Amino acid sequence: MKGKQVLITGSTAGIGKAAATALARLGAGVTIHGRNAARCEEVAAGIRASTGNSNIDTLVFDLSSPKSLTKAVEAYKVRHPKLDVLALNAGVFLSKREVSEGGFEKSFAMGFLGHFLLTRLLLPNLKAAGEARIITVAAPLDRIKVDFDNLQLVTGYSFMKAVPQSKCLLVMAMLDMAKEYSGKGITSNYMHPGLVKTDLLKETPWIFRMLLKAFGASPEKGAKTMVYLASAPEVKDATGKYFAACEDKPFKGMVADQANWKRATEIGNRLSGTPA
Ligand SMILES: NC(=O)c1ccc[n+]([C@@H]2O[C@H](COP(=O)([O-])OP(=O)(O)OC[C@H]3O[C@@H](n4cnc5c(N)ncnc54)[C@H](OP(=O)(O)O)[C@@H]3O)[C@@H](O)[C@H]2O)c1
Repeated sequence: MKGKQVLITGSTAGIGKAAATALARLGAGVTIHGRNAARCEEVAAGIRASTGNSNIDTLVFDLSSPKSLTKAVEAYKVRHPKLDVLALNAGVFLSKREVSEGGFEKSFAMGFLGHFLLTRLLLPNLKAAGEARIITVAAPLDRIKVDFDNLQLVTGYSFMKAVPQSKCLLVMAMLDMAKEYSGKGITSNYMHPGLVKTDLLKETPWIFRMLLKAFGASPEKGAKTMVYLASAPEVKDATGKYFAACEDKPFKGMVADQANWKRATEIGNRLSGTPA
């Protein structure tokens, strides 16, 4: 991975941090992203020390704030005119419905709109890499139904609905990108890290936290598929696919319907603040 630049959203903890460490160990330049500058710098310093790789940058913004995202990313783009790997990994489970500064339900704002805007803003940098890889961290989505008439979950909010719905929208928009850039130097795939012992469910009822603690694998194990998709030569041309345990798996349901991919892209273009 020497000479490659990698940005992983939500890399101050859990799977993102483990993947960032593994890719830094492989020689990549890695950017640690999160909402808190001191936390990002602490993680970056830890990775520099543990891997001996000094090429570790930080990027601070809240994915649910298009203003803070755009400002931070404009500066990042100058520092890294070429981006080889973009991993859309950050996630959050909110037990109560919250609203972003733009007035959107927060999982939708950060999980879908924020990642959508980030990807659009970084397109020139991904194109400049010649062979760039986008990785969307999700879960099995075959049974997930997106309610296009209730995207903000104004009624019937539950984190069990909000997170899968925003993930599904992001994956559909990124599959649409895979189609658009097929053979044009940008690949886009989505993946499931497995059940991983992290703080992801810290705001959810104890039963969920207990299950994750009891059955979750280590973040290092959970990061394996991300590291594989970011670095393995054999998946250089793989695109529009779903991976779990480093294997290409079939997918079906709403997420596989190309009409929905287009619809997700239209929603992203309309609501994320993406420049026309
Ligand atoms: N753990 C699992 O079993 C599992 C299973 C399937 C899928 N996943 C997916 O894997 C991804 C990583 O999860 P994880 O378990 O590693 O979670 P985690 O340990 O809780 O890490 C979440 C990361 O997201 C960042 N983040 C949260 N809200 C943010 C926001 N508004 N703006 C910017 N960054 C934000 C956090 O950074 P700061 O708090 O420092 O800002 C942190 O670095 C998520 O997308 C999750 O849905 C996890």
